[in-house]
Amino acid sequence: MAIGVARRGLVGGLAVVRGHHARDGGKQARGTGDNNDGITENRPAKYRCAKHTDYTDHAPSPRVASHATHRYACKYSGSGPVTAHRINTENSGTGAKTSPATDISEITGTGVVTHGGNLRQAIAQYGGDPADWMDLSTGINPHAYPAPPIAADAWHRLPEPDARLVDAACAYYRAPVLLPVAGTQAAIQALPRLRAHSRVAIVSPTYAEHALRWREAAHAVTEISPADIDIHIDHCDVLVICNPNNPTGHRTTPDLLLAWSQRLASRNGWLVVDEAFGDMEPALSVAAHCQQPGLIVLRSVGKFFGLAGLRLGFVGAVPVVLERLAALLGPWAISGPAQQVGVAALSDDAWQRDMRARLADDGLRLRQLLAQYLPATSGTDLFQWCAAPVPTALHEHLARHHIWVRLFPNAARGLRWGLPAAKSDWARLDLSLAGFQIGA
Ligand SMILES: Cc1ncc(COP(=O)(O)O)c(C=O)c1O
Repeated sequence: MAIGVARRGLVGGLAVVRGHHARDGGKQARGTGDNNDGITENRPAKYRCAKHTDYTDHAPSPRVASHATHRYACKYSGSGPVTAHRINTENSGTGAKTSPATDISEITGTGVVTHGGNLRQAIAQYGGDPADWMDLSTGINPHAYPAPPIAADAWHRLPEPDARLVDAACAYYRAPVLLPVAGTQAAIQALPRLRAHSRVAIVSPTYAEHALRWREAAHAVTEISPADIDIHIDHCDVLVICNPNNPTGHRTTPDLLLAWSQRLASRNGWLVVDEAFGDMEPALSVAAHCQQPGLIVLRSVGKFFGLAGLRLGFVGAVPVVLERLAALLGPWAISGPAQQVGVAALSDDAWQRDMRARLADDGLRLRQLLAQYLPATSGTDLFQWCAAPVPTALHEHLARHHIWVRLFPNAARGLRWGLPAAKSDWARLDLSLAGFQIGA
């Protein structure tokens, strides 16, 4: 049975998921003996920090280390820098200590991940109609690709994989091999189930679903800052990184990524690179190298094409990983309409070129607008991130003006701003920011 994994011109076969780990969430621990494709034999965390239940390699004894014994390498210690702000929300404008670095996970205490795009929640809380609201809470391009009319049989027939989709995606992403998935979220949820128990380092703060899903599958997860990758790279089995990162916009060079990937692969490890926001910066992508053992690349059609509702994304990796992923995700993962729209969007060079130019302008405009009111921002052309210390008052102020930005209240404390769509939206955002009074 054919699946939609293809090297150009070559359609892969559906592989049976071998071993037990894909079915049991990695709970059965040892000795899969299946170690030629990154699905490693189980290596339990040698030493667990009693406070964080993460791994440490340096504590000599006992197996359960106290927090104090591993604190020097533990990213849960210390305080953030002191920063000054033009808008400094609930800190009276004098500058305030940010929260300790303990807080780099965006997952709340109850284990729930919040996401942007939750306008119904905003309306329930602050009133108004959808038409009154400006939704800046995601990094999705507000100028969506104009989906072509859908052939009638796409609604009726079971969605057979269409080789044109993979061909268009391989050409667009410059990748030798790709598996279509129903949004990269589907892969983010499935990948942890392809490995036996692993030590997973997630470069944070980042898209919180990564940490959540690896933890859910009973792996030992540690969230680390970009500066500490070198410390962790040889002590983890999987490293997960977003490039460019959401929400901070932090970028990592392909050379570094490929070197890390090789180091991990030499121990049957994986480097998972989430390039969901990579469309504007093709030079950053490692998709072309996704057949390098141990490298897994995620690409989303939702962001740059503004087609988040389509639920389409791609995974690049060595064929055996893609085959196992495809088997886990099951048949008909991509709807017929999504396949049709995907082929059109990924093949439309003229739209892509024009949109890159338009988003470069809009991205610059957003940076310049925010710079009038906020401390330094970072991000991509699709969003800006501002690490204001306690930004809830500004979020509240904007919400009362029916402008919905993404608040990160727990972890990377700050606000993320997507692009306004209409001319009038830019003016409205400007006016609303100008009206913000600290303590009002
Ligand atoms: C960094 C990152 N990766 C992946 C996703 C999932 O996107 P999708 O499932 O639409 O491809 C998101 C969604 O916001 C994201 O921010």
